[in-house]
Amino acid sequence: MALNENIIENHIARRDFDYVLDIGSGSGQLGIQAQAHVTNWIDLELSIDLLREDRARRLNRVLGSAEILPFPASFFDAVIIKFALHHIQDGQRIFSEAARVLKDGGLCLLVDPVFVGNRFDRVKLAFLILKASIRQGAAELRCVYRTPDEIRKIASLNGFEIQKEAILQTPAPPNYLPTTMLVARRRHSSECRQETRG
Ligand SMILES: C[S@@+](CC[C@H](N)C(=O)[O-])C[C@H]1O[C@@H](n2cnc3c(N)ncnc32)[C@H](O)[C@@H]1O
Repeated sequence: MALNENIIENHIARRDFDYVLDIGSGSGQLGIQAQAHVTNWIDLELSIDLLREDRARRLNRVLGSAEILPFPASFFDAVIIKFALHHIQDGQRIFSEAARVLKDGGLCLLVDPVFVGNRFDRVKLAFLILKASIRQGAAELRCVYRTPDEIRKIASLNGFEIQKEAILQTPAPPNYLPTTMLVARRRHSSECRQETRG
């Protein structure tokens, strides 16, 4: 099953979500495919060029940054962060913003490449990235590939309870960057207050 269909089938359809936010939505393909299942699907994208690429010409596409989401607190039933986290230096910030705009108990679905390897593999990966950036431009140099453990910690520090984690794709060797899917639930504010006191 293709990735977007997997996300829609297993996490979006039959959930009766009123408001879903897709952070770093790119050209908006996931929202186009999911629109039959969600009352209000909102894309948030940093690149105006990618916002313009939406072939369906939807109006629910917002120009903005994941680091300062232009939405009120406790607004969304679900937040999707698909292949956007590694573009963002401040991982804490994206999770704390996602937690802020989600309702208590809301769903956060993260799909992203993760680094799996030892510190020598890290150095080899740095060389591969450098080589790729010479051919394709420097954007890749700004990407941050976190380990599954680092992502779990950031999510949990920012009010999420991890419900499920799965490696989706393991590319051909050297495969330091398989894709992970993390399903997390925003803890209720009362649970977070209890933890702070305890
Ligand atoms: C690899 S693309 C993924 C697009 C889409 N989510 C998908 O899965 O096809 C990463 C996207 O994140 C966007 N992005 C990068 N930094 C961002 C930020 N700080 N706030 C919002 N979007 C950001 C990029 O412009 C790009 O569209």
